Amino acid sequence: MSIERDKIWTGTINKQALEPQPRHTIGLYDTTLRDGEQSVGVVLMPDEKLEIARALDAAGIDRIEAGFPRVSEDDWRAVELIAAAGLRAEVWGFSRAVRADVEALVELGITASVIESPISDGKLSALGVSRDTMLDRIRSAVSFAAENGIDVAFFGVDSSRADLEFFRRAYAAAVEAGATEVVVVDTIGIATPEAAALLVGEAVDLVGHDVPVHWHGHDDFGLATAAAVAAVQAGATWVQGTVNGMGERAGNADLIEVALALEALYGIPTRLDLSKAHELSRLVQERAGTPLAPWKAVTGENLFVRESGAVAAQFEDPPAVEPYAAALVGQERGIVLGKKSGVDSIRIKAAELGLAVPEDRYPGLLAEVKRVGTEKRGLVTDDELRRIAAGETLHGEKVPFPAAGLGDGVVRVRRLTADDADHVLRGLNDPQILRDAGFPPSEHTAETVREKIERTRPAQMRTGEAAEFAIADAATDAFLGSIILHGFRWAASQAEIGYWVLPEARGQGVAGRAVTLLAHWAIEELGFNRIEAYVPVDNTASLRTIQRGGFTEEGTVRSVLDQQRGHVDLAQYSLVRGDLDRRRPRSKRVGG
Ligand SMILES: CC(C)(COP(=O)(O)OP(=O)(O)OC[C@H]1O[C@@H](n2cnc3c(N)ncnc32)[C@H](O)[C@@H]1OP(=O)(O)O)[C@@H](O)C(=O)NCCC(=O)NCCS
Repeated sequence: MSIERDKIWTGTINKQALEPQPRHTIGLYDTTLRDGEQSVGVVLMPDEKLEIARALDAAGIDRIEAGFPRVSEDDWRAVELIAAAGLRAEVWGFSRAVRADVEALVELGITASVIESPISDGKLSALGVSRDTMLDRIRSAVSFAAENGIDVAFFGVDSSRADLEFFRRAYAAAVEAGATEVVVVDTIGIATPEAAALLVGEAVDLVGHDVPVHWHGHDDFGLATAAAVAAVQAGATWVQGTVNGMGERAGNADLIEVALALEALYGIPTRLDLSKAHELSRLVQERAGTPLAPWKAVTGENLFVRESGAVAAQFEDPPAVEPYAAALVGQERGIVLGKKSGVDSIRIKAAELGLAVPEDRYPGLLAEVKRVGTEKRGLVTDDELRRIAAGETLHGEKVPFPAAGLGDGVVRVRRLTADDADHVLRGLNDPQILRDAGFPPSEHTAETVREKIERTRPAQMRTGEAAEFAIADAATDAFLGSIILHGFRWAASQAEIGYWVLPEARGQGVAGRAVTLLAHWAIEELGFNRIEAYVPVDNTASLRTIQRGGFTEEGTVRSVLDQQRGHVDLAQYSLVRGDLDRRRPRSKRVGG
C-alpha cells in the first residue's frame, strides 16, 4: 500500500537525519489472536477470531497467527475456522518446542508456524531445563515440523535477556534443523531501540540474508514502536505485533502504529491499508471489550476532534494543527463544543448543523455553551447547541435528552410537560399500576405531580439521578404512559429501566416500543454499557414488554420485598452494549 505523501505534514528534519534507510517492503505479522488474547481478562470466541482475521486480511496484514491450538478446544476451533476461510493472508500457527504441539498443527493442516522456546538463563532455570537440553528440544521440534512440511520461524523467548553466545547457538541450531525464518523476541519489553538493533544485527549476521529475521517486542517501557523501527533499520524484514498493542502486561508493539511510523516517518513501505486502521482498531476494541484511551496514537477517538477554541480557529487548515490527514488512517475530523470553545468553534459547528445563526449572536451563544459545558462538566452536544440557538436556557444536564425526543413512527419518548400532569396523576393513582409496578401507596395530588414534572425530574436529569419521560402517541402527541431510567450507576456504566401505560392505551405494545427506543439511546448516546430491568415473574404483560425491547433474561432474584405485595420473585433482564453491536455496526458520532 503506497502512502499518499501529500497527506503527511512532518517537515523535512526526519529525512535529513535518517538517510540512508531500507527501502524494501516490511511484512506485518499479526498475533492479536494469540499474544493479544493473552491480555488479562480477554476471551475471544472462535467466530470473533474469524471476524477479526477477516478484517486483518482486508486491511492488508500479511500473516495472521491464528492461535495456539493446544490451549483449548476453542483455540483449536478458531485455528481450524481461520485456516479454512480462504484468506489472502498466510495463516500461521504457534507451537512450543514440543512434539505434541507440532502434531496438532500437522493435524490441522497448518503449513507455517512459530516454534518457541526460552533461551535466557532466567527462563531456562525457571523451567528447570539446561541449555543443552533446550538445544536438543529445539532441534527435535524444528526438524519434526520441517519434515512434516511446516515452514518454521524459530522464536527464542526472552532473546533480549539471553546470553549472546547462547542466543547465537540457539538460532544456529534452529536454522540447521530446518527453520527458514527466525524471530528475535523482547518478551519482557526491556530492549532499547539500540538493543533491538544490536540483536537483530546479530541474527542477520548469523543466519544470512536468505533467512528472514522478525522482530517481536513488548511495550513495558513505552518503546515498542521505536524498538520495532530500530529492528527494521537493522535488517528485520518482518515485524510482529497486535492491533491496539494488546497483549501481556503493557502489551505488544501496535502494528498499526508501527506501520504508520515506518511509512510516514521513515519512508519504509508496508502493505497495510492505513485507511482501515480505525475500523480495525474499533472492531478489536469491541470484540475484546478493551477500549482505548481517546488520545491513543493513530487510532484514538479524539485525535481529530477539536474542543479548544484556539485550535478551532485553525480547524480549516489541518496541517497547522495535525501531523497527518485524518483520512489517511480512516478517521473523521470534527469540532466539539464545551468549556474550552471559541467563537470559531460556534461558527464551524453552526455551519455543520445548518443552523441559521447571524454572526452577531456567536458571542452570546459561546458564553452559553461555556456555561453549560462547565455546569455539566462535559461536552455540549449538537442537540444542546440547537436548543441554545433556539433560545432555550439549559442547565447542563448529565442526561442530555434530545429536544425532539425519540420516535419510531408509532410512539415518541419525550420530555414530560406540565400538560401531562393530569394523566400522570391518573396513572399514579391507578391501583393496578401501583400494584404491578410495586410503587408505594399513592400520596400524589395534582400539585405534587406538577412539582415533580417541573422541578424534581429536571433536577434529576441535571444531576444524573433519574430521567423520566412520557410515552406519547407519535401522531397526536397524546400522553400514553411513563418510562424512566433510574438507579444510575455512572461509574459502572449501568442503569435500570421501568415503565407503565395508562389502561386505555394498553394492548398495542407501546411500552415495548418505548423500551427499545430509550434503552438503545441510553447505550448508544449516553454511553451506558448495561441497562437492567426487574419484572415480577407473574407480570406477563411486562415480561413480554421487556422481551420486545430486546432484553435477555439472566435469572431470578428471589423473595424481594415489594411495596405492595410483600415478597415477590423478580425476573432479572438486561440489554448490554454487545447486544446492539451484534445486531448492527455502531455508528460513529463525533460531538453528537
Ligand atoms: C406492562 C405494561 C406497561 C405493558 O403495556 P403495553 O405496552 O400496552 O403492553 P400490551 O398490553 O400491548 O402487552 C404486551 C404483550 O404482553 C401480552 N400480554 C398483556 N397482558 C397479558 C396477560 N394478562 N396475559 C398474557 N399476556 C399478556 C400482550 O399480548 C403482548 O404480547 P405480544 O408482545 O406478544 O403481542 C402495562 O401492562 C402496564 O402499565 N402495567 C402496569 C404497570 C407495570 O406492570 N409496569 C411494569 C412493572 S415491571
